[in-house]
Amino acid sequence: MNANNADHAEDSRRVIATSLVDTFRAAYGADPSGVWSAPGRVNLIGEHTDYNHGLCLPVAIPRRTFVAARRRADRQIRIASIQVPGEERTVSLDTIAQGSAGGWAAYSAGVLWALEQAGHAIGGLDVVVDGRVPLGSGLSSSAALECATAAAAVDLFELRGLDDESGRRRLVAACIRAENEIAGAPTGGMDQSAALLSAPDTALLLDFDGDHPPHRVPFELTARGLEVLVMNTRAAHALGDGQYGNRRQECETAVRELGVPSLRAIAPVDLDTTLARLSSDVLRRRVRHVVTEIARVVDAVAALESGELDRLTGIFDASHASMRDDYEISCAELDLAVDTARATGALAARMTGGGFGGSAIAVIETARREEIRSAVERAFEAARFREPELFTITADGPAAREL
Ligand code: GLA
Repeated sequence: MNANNADHAEDSRRVIATSLVDTFRAAYGADPSGVWSAPGRVNLIGEHTDYNHGLCLPVAIPRRTFVAARRRADRQIRIASIQVPGEERTVSLDTIAQGSAGGWAAYSAGVLWALEQAGHAIGGLDVVVDGRVPLGSGLSSSAALECATAAAAVDLFELRGLDDESGRRRLVAACIRAENEIAGAPTGGMDQSAALLSAPDTALLLDFDGDHPPHRVPFELTARGLEVLVMNTRAAHALGDGQYGNRRQECETAVRELGVPSLRAIAPVDLDTTLARLSSDVLRRRVRHVVTEIARVVDAVAALESGELDRLTGIFDASHASMRDDYEISCAELDLAVDTARATGALAARMTGGGFGGSAIAVIETARREEIRSAVERAFEAARFREPELFTITADGPAAREL
């Protein structure tokens, strides 16, 4: 990231945080004790691998969710959001359970519940949210809200969770519990790890086979004249609606049929003989995706670490095809975004995140940005799809206090 961009990013974070203080005051009649934020993410590669004890490689993005918060004397959590005006929610820490927090508020209230479950002394909070990670974009708006809330809670209840990596990893675990058990979305841990553990100009290599610290991979493309274009298709994407959970269950079925501890345990060289032991073609395709995708993460990290970025072309192509054909999580809009970007000269492109709508990413030459953007816009218009939201990103830092 060059200095100007960095300054600009800092400025706008401060501007957003300062204006959220005003919103909080107008909503609750008092100043918040602070403002915290957490980033959304794109995943460079390694999709649907986290809950299979595999590898993935997310990058935090400069679109962040901000929360202004203040402690209450009771055990109520009162939450309002700039993005859903007039929908203030109040939940008691004593009654919170799956479904009780109601929709988006569960992601915030669930974190306080999970921190209390982990043995921390937690009380009520007043919270106002400004979510700048587009909702339903597959860019982890949910995890950004959870992790911004966690950052606020650790400061306000003096839990010291943001000070070091082990504290942050404890927060990751609490945010995952909130999402799985209170919001009811059976996701893995990639998004929460990205939001709490990322660092500027790096991608985060996460290994979910056991409790490993993240490995940071340099990810600074500007010097090479390259950048990452995010293509939010605005096609519907929701992880609580069954399709995501269905894929996860299919993987669990395959694990049972194969008698392995996880799909991570299958070595790529044993893939064909392993697939032959599965009971259906669908399971064979699901397992093939997971095993080959984990291997592609290793290849992508090697390409980034050696600076041989041209190798990303084939790795991303194979990843997108695997998600489209074997894991069946792409859709017409994602395929069109990826195909158009590649046909217009993107170095590499693939869908990112949970799928079934949401966003794709492309590694592009900065010099070709406008050409590729307008080709994707024209292709969406011709296909009569919703207008996509296109923007470039740099690798951003983790959840932090803003004010
Ligand atoms: C969503 C989930 C993650 C991960 C991705 C797919 O973002 O929240 O845990 O499974 O989908 O890679």
